Amino acid sequence: MAEYRDLSAEIRALGADLVALSVDPPATSAALRAELALPFSLLGDVRREVVARWGLLNAEEKGGIAYPAVFVLARGGVVRYRSLDRLRSRVSPEGVIAFLRAGLASTAPAEPARTTVWPALRDYLRVARNAARFGIRSPRPDNASQEATMIDEKVSATVRTAGPAADYALQVPAHVRHGLTLGLLLGVAGLLVSLLGRGHAPLLAIGLLTIGALAVAFLLVIALVVGRGLREKARDTILAAFPWRGDEAVLDVGCGNGFLLVGAARRLTTGKATGIDLWKADAGGQRAEAVLRNAGLEGVASRVALTNGDARRMPFPDGAFDLVMSSLMLHHVGSRSDREQVMAEMMRVTRPGGQVLLYDMLPFVRAAASQLRAHGFVEVKRLAGLALVVLTATRPR
Ligand SMILES: C[S@@+](CC[C@H](N)C(=O)[O-])C[C@H]1O[C@@H](n2cnc3c(N)ncnc32)[C@H](O)[C@@H]1O
Repeated sequence: MAEYRDLSAEIRALGADLVALSVDPPATSAALRAELALPFSLLGDVRREVVARWGLLNAEEKGGIAYPAVFVLARGGVVRYRSLDRLRSRVSPEGVIAFLRAGLASTAPAEPARTTVWPALRDYLRVARNAARFGIRSPRPDNASQEATMIDEKVSATVRTAGPAADYALQVPAHVRHGLTLGLLLGVAGLLVSLLGRGHAPLLAIGLLTIGALAVAFLLVIALVVGRGLREKARDTILAAFPWRGDEAVLDVGCGNGFLLVGAARRLTTGKATGIDLWKADAGGQRAEAVLRNAGLEGVASRVALTNGDARRMPFPDGAFDLVMSSLMLHHVGSRSDREQVMAEMMRVTRPGGQVLLYDMLPFVRAAASQLRAHGFVEVKRLAGLALVVLTATRPR
């Protein structure tokens, strides 16, 4: 948007006007507009109605975001030019200006020429400058409570209502992101001290560099494990590892916003997927209402049940579930003995012949595997590589 801000006078001189559209809540858009000093409106499509109608909704990301795109509209809302940005290629604003110069009546290429943008040094510098000025944001969708403002009357007239997207809170938690930034800063401080310092400075530099490097390495592993990519792979691995019939009783322990739970419910026909959680405030901001909302949006609300309870003392009878699964919950439980209690409960509620599936960081999964073996569970094995640690185990009949 900053590029379009810098070219806005030229675009207006060509007889066009500019307006931007975002799926962020109005307050976020207003703050961004002020920060970037945008000389054009930044409208809110919080319900994702315009972006869905225009084929720009990326429902997989952060609860539903828009693919970046540029449209040129003629009078009457007729689209004369359309370009979708891709990861590695995009149409430069100059391409849009060239089209405007040729006139709206000119034939716009169906897919305008793309400029490949392997980032150049100035792009890195611009990103670093913006990160320093504005911070690194990870916007959370708030699409339930805000009204959408349409791009203009003509466009809104063509918009059909599209529901908001599910939100599974898959972003890397803020404390991990902030820790990474701090680790990097310590490393940079260590480098500066080693370059500029005198006297005892080498010791200080080595200390800072070591702390920075260890912190960054540790937090990068955590960010990888709890980040969207591995979580999605873990969910797919878990759901593919179970031989579904459709009538099973399934339990998701520490179900959070229902990422795994809803995935399981989608494989059921007559069965039920139960989620248990305490919805702790310090465990990623997950909420029971979000599970119900997500299950409703994915059309599986009737196959999902929730229990607000402690996984260390679950209120279910022995052997009540065909599949007992859990993702990224063990490391949140507390001490080693708390984790052992959770595992003991998971084993207790698994029916003979039933399956346990777990995703978490390696040390927690290793300890769980030992416990499962010690209690006679069979076929205890890891299903994926080093970073993605999914464990399966079967209770003997
Ligand atoms: C990082 S979230 C993972 C959520 C979900 N399983 C997922 O993969 O998206 C961990 C969840 O475990 C829950 N949790 C932590 N300790 C718990 C306990 N003792 N009993 C039940 N739930 C617990 C937290 O409230 C949180 O929702």
